[in-house]
Amino acid sequence: EHPYPTEIREYLYKILVIGDLGTGKTSIIKRYVHNIFSTNYKSTIGVDFALKVIQWSPDTVIRMQLWDIAGQEKFSGLTRVYYKEAVAALVVYDITRPNTFEAVPKWKADLDTKVCLPDGQPIPVVLLANKIDLQDEASVGLNGEEMERFCEDNGFLKWFGTSAKDNSNIDDAARFLLEEIMHRE
Ligand code: GTP
Ligand code: MG
Repeated sequence: EHPYPTEIREYLYKILVIGDLGTGKTSIIKRYVHNIFSTNYKSTIGVDFALKVIQWSPDTVIRMQLWDIAGQEKFSGLTRVYYKEAVAALVVYDITRPNTFEAVPKWKADLDTKVCLPDGQPIPVVLLANKIDLQDEASVGLNGEEMERFCEDNGFLKWFGTSAKDNSNIDDAARFLLEEIMHRE
């Protein structure tokens, strides 16, 4: 046994959660941070914050500062202020509403024109196809090959089908994004 305590490394990451109105951004964060879900829709006003602390490894702690940005902020002109110094982002759409998928490239372009890493590289971004618990023939996306091409064409590292209701894939998506952030350090 090592006689001295190991030094603990701590990281603080600002991570954006963006996408159209009602796609489930707040629900995903509430599920991820507090493990709760509600069917009540209370639209976010401006921006909300949540902190998730993760014991990444025995000697590494990560503090994820999640910025839950209201869908209606797309038209506000304030996104540049919100995006400042973010190191990663999740873009969320609702698989039951095609227009929320059509808005994804707009959100991505908004990000890429307003924020980048200190070395000038784009921040890592993951796409969440949310509400997969409501999946049926009419769902948007979710064809693996098409989605992979969409990610490649639009600069997403990867996509995940998620459900805040059923708690599907949210931890996996967050873990993937954190690994990408750590690689860039
Ligand atoms: P804004 O704050 O207006 O931008 O919306 P938001 O993206 O934060 O959406 P919110 O999390 O408030 O969810 C909108 C509605 O969708 C709520 O009624 C949620 O209960 C519902 N919802 C969110 N995620 C899921 C999901 O995975 N499955 C189902 N079935 N409903 C969901
Ligand atoms: Mg919200």
